Amino acid sequence: MDRPIIIAGNWKHNPDRIVGESLWREVAAGTMSRKSTVGANSTVKVVIFPPAPWLGWLMSGDGAECIGNGFPDSGVIEIGMQQISDRSAGAYTGEVGAAMARQFGARWALVGHSERRTLFGETDEGVARQMAAAAGEGLCPMLCIGETLEERDEGRTCEVVSRQLEAGLSLLHETEQYAVAYEPVWAIGTGRTATVEQVSEVHQQLRDLLQQKRGAESEAVPILYGGSVTPENARSLLDLDVVDGALVGGASLDAASFLEILEAGIASA
Ligand code: 13P
Repeated sequence: MDRPIIIAGNWKHNPDRIVGESLWREVAAGTMSRKSTVGANSTVKVVIFPPAPWLGWLMSGDGAECIGNGFPDSGVIEIGMQQISDRSAGAYTGEVGAAMARQFGARWALVGHSERRTLFGETDEGVARQMAAAAGEGLCPMLCIGETLEERDEGRTCEVVSRQLEAGLSLLHETEQYAVAYEPVWAIGTGRTATVEQVSEVHQQLRDLLQQKRGAESEAVPILYGGSVTPENARSLLDLDVVDGALVGGASLDAASFLEILEAGIASA
């Protein structure tokens, strides 16, 4: 099945406002110039996950201008939350929920990123609730899963990612859309990318597991790779049939690098 290639940038807790505005402008201009192949209904999609305050700016005149007419309806770049609450609106200080994020232009939400799991104590159960909250409000959740180096060395990669995948999907209804991002923890921010053999093996296992658990409809679910993706290694990863895109951290903070990775995505689509 032909799934679109998704090139996603996770800005994490970066950048400051001045740098971020010019980063956005360059990425938006570069994406717009590839409009014939990139966009909501094209073979390649671009998704940016900025820190939450950027959503307001992106919905305003300034942000909208960067990407031409009618952002976010133009659909050339889609925006996502890095984190959303598993609760609906109410007295929950500090939380931002999926319905509100959607009203401010979000179309996606990262869920279960390893930094959230390891630094902020998120559990498989909480991740499952966030997946359901995001999908229930019409966002497309991107479930992030991946093993630590210790787990890989112990030969437990398959067991760990299978558990995380099954738990993450456990509260989703069959018709709800989602994506999966395989991000080995040892490859995140380390400059140590997984080899194409390692990526192929895990992605194939995930694809088989999705097929087993969620049936033929899971064919449409994109499985992205993340972990030290750079312009240098993007093409070899994206050329793999089992890889439907890249979730890019560090390299997404440099417009030229991110656009080169986008080029690799276009070439492999
Ligand atoms: P790096 O690309 O910096 O390794 O980060 C990957 C990541 O965590 C994306 O979500």
